[in-house]
Amino acid sequence: MKGSGEATVIVGAQWGDEGKGKIIDALVPKFDLVVRYQGGNNAGHTVVVGTEKFKMHLLPSGVVRKKRNLIGAGVVVDPRVLKQEIDSLAQKGVRIDEKILGIDFRAHVIFPWHNALDAARDAKKGIGTTGRGIGPAYEDRAARSGTRFEEFVDAKVLEKRVKEGWEAKAKAVKMLEGPAIPAAEETIKEYAALSHFLAPFACDASLEINNALEKGRRVLFEGAQGTFLDNDFGTYPYVTSSHPIAGGACTGAGVGPKSITSVEGVAKAYTTRVGSGPFPTELSDGIGSAIREKGAEYGTTTGRPRRVGWLDIPMLRYADYLNGFTGIHLTKLDVLGGLDVLKICTQYEINGKRTNYFPVKADEITGAKPVYVQLQGFPGLPPVEWRKIAKEGEKKGFAALPNEAKVYVEKVGQLVGVPILSVSVGPERSEIIWAKK
Ligand code: IMP
Repeated sequence: MKGSGEATVIVGAQWGDEGKGKIIDALVPKFDLVVRYQGGNNAGHTVVVGTEKFKMHLLPSGVVRKKRNLIGAGVVVDPRVLKQEIDSLAQKGVRIDEKILGIDFRAHVIFPWHNALDAARDAKKGIGTTGRGIGPAYEDRAARSGTRFEEFVDAKVLEKRVKEGWEAKAKAVKMLEGPAIPAAEETIKEYAALSHFLAPFACDASLEINNALEKGRRVLFEGAQGTFLDNDFGTYPYVTSSHPIAGGACTGAGVGPKSITSVEGVAKAYTTRVGSGPFPTELSDGIGSAIREKGAEYGTTTGRPRRVGWLDIPMLRYADYLNGFTGIHLTKLDVLGGLDVLKICTQYEINGKRTNYFPVKADEITGAKPVYVQLQGFPGLPPVEWRKIAKEGEKKGFAALPNEAKVYVEKVGQLVGVPILSVSVGPERSEIIWAKK
C-alpha cells in the first residue's frame, strides 16, 4: 500500500526520559494521527491540559489535542491503567471516546500476574524495571501464550483465557516468591468490566494508518523509552522488552519502511538513565547531583532518582545509524547553565585503544573510559530570562542563545553529523527554539 502521506517517527536517542513528550506535544498540531508503537505504561510524560498538568503513561500524546490516537499492535496494554487514564482525563473535562482513541486488536494485554512476575524476577535480576509487568507480558507474546486485545474484548474468550492460564502463572509467581496474585474469579470479574468499557476502542490500527497515509494524511509515531533500552540494540540485559528504535514503528504499528518519511531523535543536552546498567559518562560527583536537582531528574513513572552524566557522542552516533535521524531535538539545555566547564564525550578508550564507536560487548561498555572535549560554560539564568531568549528565538533561531550555549549546540550537531532541529530551554511548550530554515 503506497500513499503520499507523511510519517514521522519521534525516537528517544538515549535511555528514555529525553523530553519526547514535550516535543511531541509541540509537533502534534501538524499531524492527523498520533500512534504509540511499543512499550506500555512503563513510559511516562506530562501533558498540560489548560492550567492542569496530567501525567500519562499509556495514552498517546494527541488525546488532549482532539486528534485521532492509536495504540498499535506492538504495545502491551494494562486495561486497569488505561481506564484510570481515560477516567482522570474525563474528570478534567477531556472526553476520550472511540473517535479519539483506537486500540489494535493485536496489542497484548497485561494481567496481575505479569506485575507479580516482574517484581519477583527483578528482585533477583536487579535490572531495575518499572514493575509494570511489561517484560512478562512480552514474554507471553513471544511464547505465543499471551492474550490479544481481540480476545480481551470478547468476554467469553477472556474468561477462558484467564481460567486456562491462571494456575500456571500462580505457580510461577509462588516459585519465585513473588507477591500473591488475585484469584482467577476476581480477575475475571475485574477484567470483564474493563473489557466491556474498552471494547468500543478495538480496531485494526495498522489498516487505519495505511489508509490514512494513502489519503495523504500525516502520521506521528510516538516512541516510548529510548534507543539504548531497545531489546536488541540497547545495553542488554539492562533494557526494556520492546523496540523503541525507529524500525519498531514499522513492526509495532504495521506499516512498511517505505512509508516512513522522517525520523527525529530527541536527546537531552546531557545524559540520564534510570535503573541499572552501564553508563560510560556517569557523574557520581557534585556536578551530577547539581544537574539532577536543577533538571528535576526523577522518574515520571516510578519517582526514582535518575543517574546523570555528560553528553555522549558515540552513543548519539550509534543512535543515528540505528534510527536514521533526519534531525535531533536537543532538550533541557538551560539545565547546564551555571557550570564553568561543559564536557562532551567524543570517543571512548577501551583496553588502551581509542574508538569512535559505541561497543557491542557488555564488558567493553562497562570498561569504556570516556574521552572528553571541554567547552566553556554559559551563565545560569532564571526561567524568566530563558523565556525571553525563547521569544527572541522565534526571530533569530539559535542566535538568540548566549554565545557559549550556541557554541555547545553547534558542536553537538557537528560531532553527531545531524542537523539540530530545536533546542529546549525550559519546561513550557513555548520554550523551544526552532532552527532557522
Ligand atoms: P521495564 O521496561 O519496566 O521492563 O524496565 C526495563 C528498563 O527500562 C529499566 O531500566 C527501566 O528503568 C527502563 N525504562 C522503562 N521505561 C522507561 C522510560 O519510559 N524511561 C526511562 N527508562 C525506562
